[in-house]
Amino acid sequence: MRDKCWLRKKIMDSTLTSFKIESKDKITETIIYEMNELFPNCKRSDHPSASLQFQLITDNALGTEGFEILRKEKSLIIQGNTTKGLLYGLFRLYQEFLGGSRLDKGIRSVPDQAIRMLNHWDNFDGSVERGYAGRSIFYEDNQFRKNFDTLREYGRLLASIGINAISINNVNVHKRETYFITEIHLSDIKEIADIFQQYGISTYLSVNFAAPITIGGLKTADPVDKAVEKFWKDTARSIYSIIPDFGGFVVKADSEGEPGPFVYGRDHDDGANMLARALKPYGGLVIWRCFVYNCLQDWRDRSIDRAKAAYDNFMKLDGKFESNVILQIKNGPIDFQVREPVSPLFGALKQTNQILEFQVTQEYTGQQKHLCYLLPMWKEVLDFDTKYPVKHSFVKNILCNQSPNTKYSGVAAVVNVGIDDNWTGHKLAQANLFGYGRLIWDNQLSSETIADEWLSLTFDLDTAKQEMLADILLTSYQTYENYTAPLGIGFMVRPNHHYGPDVDGYEYDRWGTYHFADRNGIGVNRTLKDGTGYTRQYSDKRFEEYEDLAACPDELALFFHHLPYEHVLQSGKTVIQHIYDTHFEGYEKVEEYIRVWEQLKPHLDEASYQNVAERLQEQKRSARDWKDQINTYFYRKSGVPDDFNRQIYS
Ligand code: GCU
Repeated sequence: MRDKCWLRKKIMDSTLTSFKIESKDKITETIIYEMNELFPNCKRSDHPSASLQFQLITDNALGTEGFEILRKEKSLIIQGNTTKGLLYGLFRLYQEFLGGSRLDKGIRSVPDQAIRMLNHWDNFDGSVERGYAGRSIFYEDNQFRKNFDTLREYGRLLASIGINAISINNVNVHKRETYFITEIHLSDIKEIADIFQQYGISTYLSVNFAAPITIGGLKTADPVDKAVEKFWKDTARSIYSIIPDFGGFVVKADSEGEPGPFVYGRDHDDGANMLARALKPYGGLVIWRCFVYNCLQDWRDRSIDRAKAAYDNFMKLDGKFESNVILQIKNGPIDFQVREPVSPLFGALKQTNQILEFQVTQEYTGQQKHLCYLLPMWKEVLDFDTKYPVKHSFVKNILCNQSPNTKYSGVAAVVNVGIDDNWTGHKLAQANLFGYGRLIWDNQLSSETIADEWLSLTFDLDTAKQEMLADILLTSYQTYENYTAPLGIGFMVRPNHHYGPDVDGYEYDRWGTYHFADRNGIGVNRTLKDGTGYTRQYSDKRFEEYEDLAACPDELALFFHHLPYEHVLQSGKTVIQHIYDTHFEGYEKVEEYIRVWEQLKPHLDEASYQNVAERLQEQKRSARDWKDQINTYFYRKSGVPDDFNRQIYS
């Protein structure tokens, strides 16, 4: 039985006895299905005094996705301009009912971000790149699984948290998946897209820039070549003739071995615009990723800084993209580390549609073996003040305000879902999926509120016990940061699989992720004064802050500066003592989580208890590895003993 996650409860004794819908389209059918699932006692009725009514209205402020829930005497009314809005309203109503609200005041809600997307990194062979919850829900053994019940359940979960776009194959598009855009596979893609469309979700495909060569029989994929242009135009026409509501393409080009316009001496605007022109007649979008950097770096060459790459490559192209191109920008300048500064492209790009990219799948945050509730991190990014001299300079506002077409802006994330019964491998990792959707719909929600919502929908705990579990969730991000790479340095993971510590794993490698630790100090000097100059990619105020060691926040100290071990941080601790303390604290916190989880055992269902208990043991084992390897490594390098004489393996 698949886990129904936060939609597991039926509302049996609801005050609703009947409902009425004033529309007939695919989403109306979905609403009827949902009413039966969520409120099984409720009957469909044409009687005007029905207890719940869905009303299509005209209210411009609600836009195409907003809704309003009103109480009129005994009746509840959900209003929206579209059935999609009504569907979102229904899920919200369900949530409010379970939370015990009588909805006396009513609720009005409009999403803060227009595009709210998930990216699957699923391969046709059934594997999932950076997937930690089993195999793909879409494919197995180079076939479509056609498990439509699962996909319907999935669409339902996603609609309940407001997701409206999904890309269904890996951004690294291997040979077989290149054929997804051909008639060989389009009818299979259509079956998937139709299911998602019933939940208001548009389907996108990742495409390979070299497709004109690999599947089109051409000698080139040069974006200015007429035959190449024709290939993409023909491709777009054939896709839209089969899937008229197809969303568009996601493109990883000139990145980590993927082909792109650089191969032909062209730039990213040439490549993206050519694809955009092919999709434009059908309303399709090109989502072009900014994750472009030199991954064949020579560690001896200190002039290259990977952090600078996205800005260097894309800033100069601001304003040069077609109206249906959106740049997708990772939250930080490197690669989803537990701590990075916010990408300097936010705020700097002023005339380009933009999407922020998060990683819900826990590639660098414990791979769904460790508990790491990521909402605090995502909130920090959305609430980050870029300090450009504009009225709303926070990332969450910049996304739409600085996109020429606000409808073509938003947030995307690499998803953490697989075929495992509970979808996410680690039961508590469901909170990240739920929270991602909730937060990007409503940017004002706090991590605490989202944790409470998820916990009360998912478990049956009394207030005190729910608080114990909420405390685990809410501290888990800091805990993970504490026992892994310190002070924003990042990448001390084992190469390839990125699980577990390996301080020097990437140090002499080609990927541009170095810590430069020696006997005197550690960190990357990214200052303008005498470092790589990365700090200058920020607004004047942020530049001054990061450039000046005395002003730079502790948690990013080693991201921006190379520091002696005995340098005193703003906290009053030395770098080396901070490393020791946080690693001991982080490990001890995991031990505490295990104790709390044991206390909660009698109040949890067996499957959830076991699932998390096993993973917490692994988290403890791994956290111990991290603590001992990091502490020992830096003790050996620095020779500075721990102030408290705790066990370090010298
Ligand atoms: C990381 C990740 C890759 C992924 C890449 C991307 O480097 O390890 O698996 O392909 O990000 O975002 O494209």
